[in-house]
Amino acid sequence: MERQTGARNVIVGVSGSIAAYKAPSVIRLLRREGHEVRTVATEAALRFIGAPALAAVTGRPVSTGVFDDPAAVEHVEMGEWAELVVVAPASADLLARLAAGRADDLLTATILMTTAPVVLAPAMHTRMWTSPATEENVATLRRRGVSVIPPDAGPLTGGDSGAGRLPEPGRIVSAALAILGAAGDAVPIADAAGSAAGSRPPQDLAGRALVVSAGGTREPLDPVRFLGNRSSGRQGCAIAAEAARRGARTVVVAANVDAHVLAGLEPEGVRVIPVGTALELGETVRGEAAQADAVIMTAAVADYRPATVSASKIKKRGMSRSPDCGATPARRVIELVENPDVLTGLVADPPRRGLLVVGFAAETGDAAGDVLAHGAAKARRKGADLLAVNAVGARTGFGDVPNSVVVLDSDGREVVRAAGSKAEVARTLVDLVARVLDARVQDS
Ligand code: CTP
Repeated sequence: MERQTGARNVIVGVSGSIAAYKAPSVIRLLRREGHEVRTVATEAALRFIGAPALAAVTGRPVSTGVFDDPAAVEHVEMGEWAELVVVAPASADLLARLAAGRADDLLTATILMTTAPVVLAPAMHTRMWTSPATEENVATLRRRGVSVIPPDAGPLTGGDSGAGRLPEPGRIVSAALAILGAAGDAVPIADAAGSAAGSRPPQDLAGRALVVSAGGTREPLDPVRFLGNRSSGRQGCAIAAEAARRGARTVVVAANVDAHVLAGLEPEGVRVIPVGTALELGETVRGEAAQADAVIMTAAVADYRPATVSASKIKKRGMSRSPDCGATPARRVIELVENPDVLTGLVADPPRRGLLVVGFAAETGDAAGDVLAHGAAKARRKGADLLAVNAVGARTGFGDVPNSVVVLDSDGREVVRAAGSKAEVARTLVDLVARVLDARVQDS
């Protein structure tokens, strides 16, 4: 049979978990998309699903032991052949063996030697998933650039419920292919955040979807004028790029962001949706948030918009003489109406259960309080899970300048601080978002 364009060589690994019965669906979906699949099962997997069933959906024999055919050095041949390795389900034991760098069966030996992206979809009992040993193994694997798709929460085999269910095969396949796409772009990973060139960043957001609003809204007065603000969108774009590098499906809702700022998103596979006004931004963010795990609102959203927008250019009127000739300058009043607060709307009525909502607050100190006091009051008022407060001034905050943020929780308590380039700040924030999302799955 002729190989389709875009077809990739995928190894599907199956390890010992009751969820092994879902592996054939993963294999079937990958093959339906035209990819070449080879299946490698561990000995334990074959206690849950028969090799003939796996071979039938794969369309070729299933391999297990490293010594099945020593002359063929199968793990080397497999590892070189693979463009992607997906293990579904990945048992606690498999995670431990991979974290330890073991090569005691064909699957672990192949993963140890391959340079292809490796995506693991764990499935196990909640207490095994949350045990310190598994948590450390997952952290180790992610640090090495392996993608670990967090398990779903729900009823478990033993009758109890919690985090540990294998995600639906469709979600595993789309997350794995998205990672394959991002890895295949061959972009240098080194960036201003200082990731090592050529090494893959931890894939701690694999299988997650993030929405980031960026830039500043513009509220039209007439066809040529608007009320706007100085937000460049750089911090939002840096966060989106970092999230995408770490495996998240990422959408940027971009309010008037310059093309050269957006250009940095393209190689990372970030989807950009341009918007203009606060109302457009609000509608788009809400729509996208319905499929997302987290929304990060870095955009500067206008609190008010002109009550009426003139269809034609507003003319200067009421001045018979130039104002600098001593006459009182003419005044003009623009009536404004309040825009909805997108962030508080997401908190009060989340479009998706468990949505993590992160706000940004650019503050200046004044007679009523310093930057942090204003930030803490805003954190309590807005109720977002996290609020990154930054001081804006001549040399920090807006534009191509360093940033410094203090992240507060919804009670106004400090969670973390980050300072440096916008990419460095993005890295700290994305670390935090990944940690909070993981903790949420475990709690649910
Ligand atoms: N925000 C929003 N919708 C608005 C205004 C703000 O979603 N209409 C979001 C911003 O994207 C940001 C956070 O709320 O994440 C804080 O924005 P900020 O302008 O600091 O808050 P305001 O409520 O407008 O407070 P202030 O009175 O300081 O302007």
